[in-house]
Amino acid sequence: MASNRGQFNSRVGFILAAAGSAVGLGNIWKFPFEVGDGGGAAFVLIYLIFCFVLCFPVMVAEIAIGRRTNKNPVGAFVSLGFPNWSIIGKLGLVAGVVILSFYNVVAGWAFGYFFEMLQGNFAIGSEFGTFIADWLKVGIYGLIFMAATAFIVSGGVQDGIEKAAKILMPSLLAIILFLVVYALTLPNAMAGVEFYLVPDFSKVNLQVIYNALGQAFFSLSLGMGALITYGSYVSKRENIISSAAIITLTDVGIAFIAGLMMFPFVFSQNLEPNGGPGLIFVTLPGVFQTLGPLLGVVIGSLFFLLLSFAALTSTVSLLEVPVSYLVDERNMPRKKAVWLTAGGIFLVGIPSLLSNGSSEFWTAFTHLPGREDPVSFMTLIEFVASDSFLPLGGFLISVFTAYVWRTASLDEEVAIGNDGFLGSPLQKFLNFGIQFLAPVILGIIFVLTVLDRFWGYNPF
Ligand code: TRP
Repeated sequence: MASNRGQFNSRVGFILAAAGSAVGLGNIWKFPFEVGDGGGAAFVLIYLIFCFVLCFPVMVAEIAIGRRTNKNPVGAFVSLGFPNWSIIGKLGLVAGVVILSFYNVVAGWAFGYFFEMLQGNFAIGSEFGTFIADWLKVGIYGLIFMAATAFIVSGGVQDGIEKAAKILMPSLLAIILFLVVYALTLPNAMAGVEFYLVPDFSKVNLQVIYNALGQAFFSLSLGMGALITYGSYVSKRENIISSAAIITLTDVGIAFIAGLMMFPFVFSQNLEPNGGPGLIFVTLPGVFQTLGPLLGVVIGSLFFLLLSFAALTSTVSLLEVPVSYLVDERNMPRKKAVWLTAGGIFLVGIPSLLSNGSSEFWTAFTHLPGREDPVSFMTLIEFVASDSFLPLGGFLISVFTAYVWRTASLDEEVAIGNDGFLGSPLQKFLNFGIQFLAPVILGIIFVLTVLDRFWGYNPF
């Protein structure tokens, strides 16, 4: 192994880091508002099916490619002998840079809310719009956040990523569970639970399906090579299947619990569930206030602090992708690669920072066919990077794995560290998933999503 590269210390270290990458703003900020916009339980059900049936095989393939090659997502394809396919890795690099650029802005909001809660400013919920339009303030929080990400990534695999994930993930889970219990005691909580868990299939349309797929990929950190990168630090003793299962269950589990916390809160306050990206920021401060001045400040600030940490283990994995590329392929020293990329991505994120009310130009950036309201720059790049590039990446990874690298090679890698795998029903499921389900369904949905998002065209 090249001397510059690291390796995870332990099985737990890898799983926590990969689960840390998966669990983030996607679970606690994005998932509840996607459920709210998508009409509730039916969205949840489609999302769950996508995660387990479509995403799981892609996740196993990403980790296996990474572990087989010990390489970044661009180098991995070259090292398997298919340099043309490194386009997948390059697409992934672009997607990662773009996603991190706006993700960091939202992480800055969460971090800023931590300070607001510390000061007992529960009214910030109703001032969310003003808060995010204050580009200077939010920009400073974002800058601090990006610097913290860079600091951890420059510590390398073991000292940085692994240690941070070990402490922070369990703490976040504990505080959300506390809030679920509290939420369920509130008046009208059951209306929220019903919205969340009793499906109304008349609300399902194609948009709901695109959003559920984009959300599944985003939440599991799939489709851009983040898990190829993390897989490249995994030892041959590990069982890829069970690791992928634990990562998926953790991620889906935390999103699910976050929803169980949000909807009772939303309904108990008589708010609308389709509050869009502001949902948690608008709803939660009012909830914390009801806990009383002391407990409210403690729980409120802890919540947003831990949410920021959850975002941090995700931004770390996003930054690690371009950094591993520069270290492996361009022989750049790790520290230099880290600060250069982090600085660059912060700059790329400035238009997103200005997209939330502070600049008319970036806020009403463009009109897309089929949509009445103009979309902001930040929304536009979310459409491109997370809704389009990630499913495209997943599609290409499954096609590559099944038909270029070949399923037999995948099976061979997966069998290392997993004695009973060959010949098991799991092998059959995995092979069917990677050869048929993933390429066909991801291919179709990718095309339909692009038609919908950018041409406003809907065939059905
Ligand atoms: N999964 C993370 C979340 O849910 C975000 C994330 C981290 C991500 N790394 C990624 C998304 C790689 C796509 C690809 O918050």
